[in-house]
Amino acid sequence: MNLEQKASLLSGRDFWSTKPVGEIPSAVLSDGPHGVRRQTGEADHVGIHDSLPATCFPPAVAVGSSWDPAVAGRLAAAVAREARALDVQVSLGPGVNIKRSPLCGRNFEYYSEDPLLTGVLATAHVKALQSEGVGASVKHFAANNQETGRMRVSAEIDERTLREIYLPAFERVVKQARPATVMAAYNKVNGVYASQHPWLLTRVLREEWGFDGVIVSDWGAVNNRVAALKAGLDLEMPGNPGNDAQIVQAVLDGQLDEADVDRSVARVREMVGRWRPAPAEFDADAHHALARELAADCAVLLKNTDAVLPIGPDARTIAVVGPFATEPRFQGGGSSHVNPTRVDIPLEEIRKLAGDRTVTTDPEGADLAIVFAGLADLDESEGYDRGTIELPGEQVELIRATASVARHTVVVLSNGGVVSLEGWHDEVDAILEGWLLGQAGGGALADLLFGVVSPSGRLAETIPLRLQDTPSYLNFPGEQDVVRYGEGVMVGYRYHETVDRPVRYPFGHGLAYTAFAVSDLTVEVTGSSTAHASVKVANTGGRYGKHVVQLYISTQAGPVRRPVRELRAFTKVALEPGQATTVTFDLDTRAFAYWDVAEGRWLVAPGSYAIQIGENASRIVAEETVELAGEVILKQLSLDSSVGDWFAHPVVGPMLMGHIAATMTPEQQAQAAEHADMLRMIESLPMYQFISPMGVQIPAETVQEMIELSRQGS
Ligand code: BGC
Repeated sequence: MNLEQKASLLSGRDFWSTKPVGEIPSAVLSDGPHGVRRQTGEADHVGIHDSLPATCFPPAVAVGSSWDPAVAGRLAAAVAREARALDVQVSLGPGVNIKRSPLCGRNFEYYSEDPLLTGVLATAHVKALQSEGVGASVKHFAANNQETGRMRVSAEIDERTLREIYLPAFERVVKQARPATVMAAYNKVNGVYASQHPWLLTRVLREEWGFDGVIVSDWGAVNNRVAALKAGLDLEMPGNPGNDAQIVQAVLDGQLDEADVDRSVARVREMVGRWRPAPAEFDADAHHALARELAADCAVLLKNTDAVLPIGPDARTIAVVGPFATEPRFQGGGSSHVNPTRVDIPLEEIRKLAGDRTVTTDPEGADLAIVFAGLADLDESEGYDRGTIELPGEQVELIRATASVARHTVVVLSNGGVVSLEGWHDEVDAILEGWLLGQAGGGALADLLFGVVSPSGRLAETIPLRLQDTPSYLNFPGEQDVVRYGEGVMVGYRYHETVDRPVRYPFGHGLAYTAFAVSDLTVEVTGSSTAHASVKVANTGGRYGKHVVQLYISTQAGPVRRPVRELRAFTKVALEPGQATTVTFDLDTRAFAYWDVAEGRWLVAPGSYAIQIGENASRIVAEETVELAGEVILKQLSLDSSVGDWFAHPVVGPMLMGHIAATMTPEQQAQAAEHADMLRMIESLPMYQFISPMGVQIPAETVQEMIELSRQGS
């Protein structure tokens, strides 16, 4: 291959495929996470033009609420089979960005406000997709948490926040599932475009995490092609002949090492060679049935006063109202928009399960009214953020009007981003949050309403009382092309729990048609920074159901402000009535660690750690505290270090104290001991001030000796 051919391999042939060069074949990359969006005619990446019919499975917002890696995996395996049928080699997903604000227009494409939940589901997705021979593209790397100004905005984030909140989902997927590609985001991170960010793309992604696949740009995300290539971005999409020429010119001018070009060529070549699964066929009926089954595991029953659901035999007349009963909203707008093979209409599905009951549109008299409400297509989408979390006014009016005349009212919600339940929550009996459930959502909702399936979804994001209560409220979406992540690690429930402010429904909340109890929590310390937990969970109700066991860790150990609790493990179990099982969790170092910016690595501080089993992030039902030895970090001291740090040093501290005592008379010593608390006043002084001519007199050689000692120890 000559230089021109090499450069040409590093951008697309067109919108969706790479260039065939010599014996290297072309590969098709297509959206997206919850269904195949294969365009063979006019192409676009905002969901305008048609694509071939494919099953629209539940989008990530729903999968997040399943808390079930099996849901993510079965979905991805089916998407992979459709990709093979539609000649797609790399499927552009999953999206693993954290829901920083409920206003992000693309939250429907993301799993959760929590990095562990996101990472576990995304890992299952990638493993299953790739086990069918189709490559994944984990996106959008990194800190693409809003749509406002997404191609220009700089996300200003401190390193601890990046490491603890915005990077771990990517890290888990890369390390555990080895995705074919990672997609570099549009936005800047701390002033540098993500697509040309050497620290993100090379230092962290490749060197620290060992990523050996292709880094592909988001569509049109390359600003400076040569800088992007140098930073580690291999493939630019879609095609861009002008940028290919820039690569050639930069090599000829000596601005770019040809070895950098060769390295990216090798990766693209390996990708198109490796991800070439044999064509397959897919059974649209079977996939529709699968989409229905998966969707039913995702919806969250938020409220169910007097067990009004499931609809019982006494409800003879059922009223079904609201626009989404006949025109369901089941996916979001933009690049992930799938052309569904068919769509379940909720009203029809309800009629099918209603048997000999009467189904009407008049709530007055009905024994039970079901209102289908939510957000319309234009209320939220890729490309822009929402300005409010309120439901449209006419929908609130419809809910309230129905509730004022119906004997019982059930609200079924269809929305990609969180909506406020205020102003009507207390007037209705039950709320089933369906999110966006994909093309078979109508059938799944009917299954849940009639109790064919017991709801088992849990909130993957907090439902606040007010937008003003959300942690990013003051900083979202930023101004003048800069967005400051001022809330730091206090994202979602981490914030709400830490400041102890009420929310409407906490992260992790969700009801079932049966009841569960946990007991016998035991925690065993297995190393200096690891533990093993086990807990019994029993179905104490009268029906089969699934329960999510949520394990949180709470600590204030270490030198940084920790959220009150953080999700560190979870599992979903299925139990028959009366059945019980014991679930176990191995808690590794990362479950206890924080990112230490001074050390530049993960650290477990010595101290107490409460292992908590939560019904949700707010309600803890079992707790055991353990002491961990962790890792003691001895600070290297200098004259700039604080007096407090000098005294705290286990070796130097007592020595210093001894030297100070030696300079005092016995009376002064007695006085100092009496006023030990006075030490607090000088703790923050730098050492050079403390031992200045005006201060305590300690020989310079002795000070130097102590500094040396601290160096040896650290
Ligand atoms: C989106 C990506 C998508 C790509 C291709 C971009 O606008 O941000 O998520 O994969 O288009 O459609």
